[in-house]
Amino acid sequence: MAIEVRPLGAPLGAEILGVDISKPIDEATFGHIHAAWLEHLVLLFRDVDWTPEAHIAFTRRFGATHIMDPISANLPGHPEIYVISNVVRDGKPLGIKRAGWGWHSDGEEKEVPNKGSLIHALKIPPADGDTLFANMYLAWDGLPDETKAKIKDRRALRSRLRLHHVHYPHLPLTAEIKARRPDVLHPMARTHPETGRTSLFVGRWACEVEGLGAEEGAALLAELNQWAVRPEFVYRHQWRVGDAVLWDNRCTQHCATPFDDERFERHMHRTTIEGLRPT
Ligand code: SIN
Repeated sequence: MAIEVRPLGAPLGAEILGVDISKPIDEATFGHIHAAWLEHLVLLFRDVDWTPEAHIAFTRRFGATHIMDPISANLPGHPEIYVISNVVRDGKPLGIKRAGWGWHSDGEEKEVPNKGSLIHALKIPPADGDTLFANMYLAWDGLPDETKAKIKDRRALRSRLRLHHVHYPHLPLTAEIKARRPDVLHPMARTHPETGRTSLFVGRWACEVEGLGAEEGAALLAELNQWAVRPEFVYRHQWRVGDAVLWDNRCTQHCATPFDDERFERHMHRTTIEGLRPT
């Protein structure tokens, strides 16, 4: 069967059919997948049954893997795999609980944000726990000209130190995380290094705008964060076990949505790809 790229009928996202990504793939096939990724921003592969090694090997086709902190959240023996999970076995959490419950792009508060991420769903709750993805090219394109002019050459301050307790009240801010995530300034509009397109670059770790007073900056960020995730920019992914979803952090945001994590288990493996400093 030839590879097929089937758009998801949403402002971003396509399903890829006709290729088994658990096996090594040739350059031509990879070229199709890569082109589809740049065009659709989020790719869905169904019924993926692979080993952690195969997950890592496929991820590496897109770039070097990034090791997430805290290291203790990663799969034993496979630090490239970040475990997003509320599962507890023998009294020990298997991964990070409530990771990404809020709009963001991976590593947006790091000096070098991540290029992409690839989640494989191993266990999902019977209801809820979907992931939302928003298209930041469309968010930028749709902004009024005066807003574009206002933010085009501005940077926003992203702070893990100030906001960790807001987004991760259930997890300590460890010395390891503090050391690896100093405050950082990133442009509010960024150029994708491969497509050359401009996208809006905001998210939940931004807390100040360079050159604006605290109140004005916070109001602008609140307005842009609301704008960025309007329904016309968003795709909702309802997971099935075996789904592998790859997204481009350079032009999207995503948000894991809550589920009843006292009663049900959700267990995902995520690889993360090294990026470049946004410009
Ligand atoms: C994340 O990578 O931010 C979490 C996404 C998810 O668990 O759906």
